[in-house]
Amino acid sequence: MSKESIILGIESSCDDTSAAILQGKKILSNVIANQEIHQQYGGVVPELASRAHQQNIIPVVNSSIKKANIKKEDIDAIAFTNGPGLLGSLLVGSSFAKSFAIGMDIPLITINHLQAHILAHFIDEGNAIPKFPFLCLTVSGGHTQIVKVESSNNMQIIGSTLDDAAGEAFDKSAKILGLPYPGGPFIDKHAKKGNIHAFTFGKPKIKKLDFSFSGLKTSILYKIQDGVKENSDFIKENLEDLCASIQYAIVSILLNKLQKAIKQTGIKQIAIAGGVSANSYLRDQLENLAKKEKFDFFIPKFEYCTDNAAMVAIAGYFKFSDKNFAQQSESPSARLLF
Ligand code: KG4
Ligand code: ZN
Repeated sequence: MSKESIILGIESSCDDTSAAILQGKKILSNVIANQEIHQQYGGVVPELASRAHQQNIIPVVNSSIKKANIKKEDIDAIAFTNGPGLLGSLLVGSSFAKSFAIGMDIPLITINHLQAHILAHFIDEGNAIPKFPFLCLTVSGGHTQIVKVESSNNMQIIGSTLDDAAGEAFDKSAKILGLPYPGGPFIDKHAKKGNIHAFTFGKPKIKKLDFSFSGLKTSILYKIQDGVKENSDFIKENLEDLCASIQYAIVSILLNKLQKAIKQTGIKQIAIAGGVSANSYLRDQLENLAKKEKFDFFIPKFEYCTDNAAMVAIAGYFKFSDKNFAQQSESPSARLLF
């Protein structure tokens, strides 16, 4: 029996440097170095991200190989994110991957970051996996999309944001509230004790399956500015209710369009992906909806929701099986399309 292929995945599209080792569809290691430097700026500073990736990439890869208990000679192919993302960050991962492929004389595989978020569902953890075709709500710091997934290499975006991403809506709201970056997890935490109906904000009126979050952000900003004008402790005194109401507003926008997409396509296999899929309220609401409307609902394991290289490695597995390899001349693209 031939041994199952071993793939090294590399992710460096934003502010996480990550390397993972996959054997077959099982993860042997998934190492992530977060860049704390951006917290003091309230957002990712591209030049600092790129420099931190340069410092992190070799130790992170070494650690992934060590943790997987393999030798680098055991690796059959290297897969890396070639977009979308920050160009300076992508270049670090792509330069490393190309050199490694030449040095080890193994195939090179390019991966679309957003497709990798979706394919994270196929990492073998003994869990249920969606059947094709399925709908995936991809919600991250940079993207908000509803994707119709026909197969591992055939996906169509049927709805996307016209302005901010859902993660940005969380992060920008958190910034207005004086919470640290990235603010999504902090809003999630404070919202647990708050009243979702304490405050109401403007709702977008966008046609089709597209999203918009910039109006909501402005509405949140004005409501908070008005509150602070009347009472300088307004945020402190209402933090839990504000977080719960903001989270409710963002999640309602997402659920509304997802329900519309289910109705339009008739597809009843529903998945979520991306950093915002870690949100506890979104998960609870989707689970309730799945029971009520009788659809199957899938969420990847928590560590495969936010940016990680395990998802790049599993996406690499599908391309490796198809012998869909990249050339050394391939260059990353900040705005890579499907
Ligand atoms: O997928 P991801 O790790 O990076 C991008 O590709 O953007 O997503 C990061 C985003 C951030 O906006 C972060 O605030 C958000 O995911 N996020 C959350 C939660 N955990 C992470 N948003 C809401 N609730 C959470 N629990
Ligand atoms: Zn991402």
